[in-house]
Amino acid sequence: MNIIRRRGWEAPEHEVTPEHYFLSRRAIIAGGVSALMIGGYAGAQRLSDVEKLPDPTTDLYPAKVNSTYPVDRPLTDEKTVTSYNNFYEFGGDKYISQRAQALKIRPWTVKIDGMVEKPFEIGVDDLIRKMPLEERIYRLRCVEAWSMTIPWTGFPLAKLLELAKPLSSAKYVQMETFKDSAMAPGQRQTWYPWPYTEGLTIAEASNDLAFLVTGVYGKPAPRQNGAPLRLAVPWKYGFKSVKSIVRFHFTDKRPKSYWESLQASEYGFWANVNPKVDHPRWSQATEEVIGAGGKRVPTLLFNGYGEWVADLYKGLDNERLYA
Ligand code: MTE
Repeated sequence: MNIIRRRGWEAPEHEVTPEHYFLSRRAIIAGGVSALMIGGYAGAQRLSDVEKLPDPTTDLYPAKVNSTYPVDRPLTDEKTVTSYNNFYEFGGDKYISQRAQALKIRPWTVKIDGMVEKPFEIGVDDLIRKMPLEERIYRLRCVEAWSMTIPWTGFPLAKLLELAKPLSSAKYVQMETFKDSAMAPGQRQTWYPWPYTEGLTIAEASNDLAFLVTGVYGKPAPRQNGAPLRLAVPWKYGFKSVKSIVRFHFTDKRPKSYWESLQASEYGFWANVNPKVDHPRWSQATEEVIGAGGKRVPTLLFNGYGEWVADLYKGLDNERLYA
């Protein structure tokens, strides 16, 4: 496999930060930070394509806000969150939002299998209705050294674990994206190890911060953000937050994920954010705040979520925790 092929996230900065992000930064300043914090975004954006379609769970939005995890940055505006994406199934550039509309998100079945009491399948709407939906604002730190601040709606991954009932011998949960190259042209690129997969230890998956996302900005999530179900693990680099999940597989073997299969020296299993551990080809000390006119800020250990997750890594000093 040729792993030197350049991916979208290796594009130079001038290619990945078009002019309209500079303009949206001015809008943020003009609107004031507080107007963009919780509750301040309603009605600010035009309708997205997914909103024009009937979504069977629309009545569940907006969900109640859980502000356990404080955020001291302005929200990234909705237009930017939904139009600057990584979703390799639809191409290696950031502007896949239109292409991603080809993704059929209903019917959508989620399979739970492997080391569980009893494997089963469940329709995504039944799953969502069983879960306590809430809104949380999380920062997203991409391994490419950019970040956003996003109001997700969803439920703790721990709640899915309760439903799945993994055996005590299960040590990991592997999550898998759909595979259908008729819908997703990126999957016709056979040198990539489709489907996109990611994994967490059961301890990580049980941590309250690990969140399964169904919505964004107080509405069902659009396809480009990983509808109808994606992960958000904000203390890890963004590539761990797998989109459009169809399967949760419980196992006692550490899963090898998509990017790890492509280039293990650069993208490992743990991938916890750490400003002191550089990517082999660039620094991780700072990050560009997307939508903030090219502004860079220092990156924080565990992306600022250490208080809630650092304990997960005690005694794992021999692991490559930060790549
Ligand atoms: N999940 C799938 N299935 N395919 C992808 O290409 N990209 C990852 C992650 N999840 C990706 C994915 C990366 S690199 C990042 S930074 C985030 O999704 C981006 O999420 P966003 O587009 O909602 O900002």
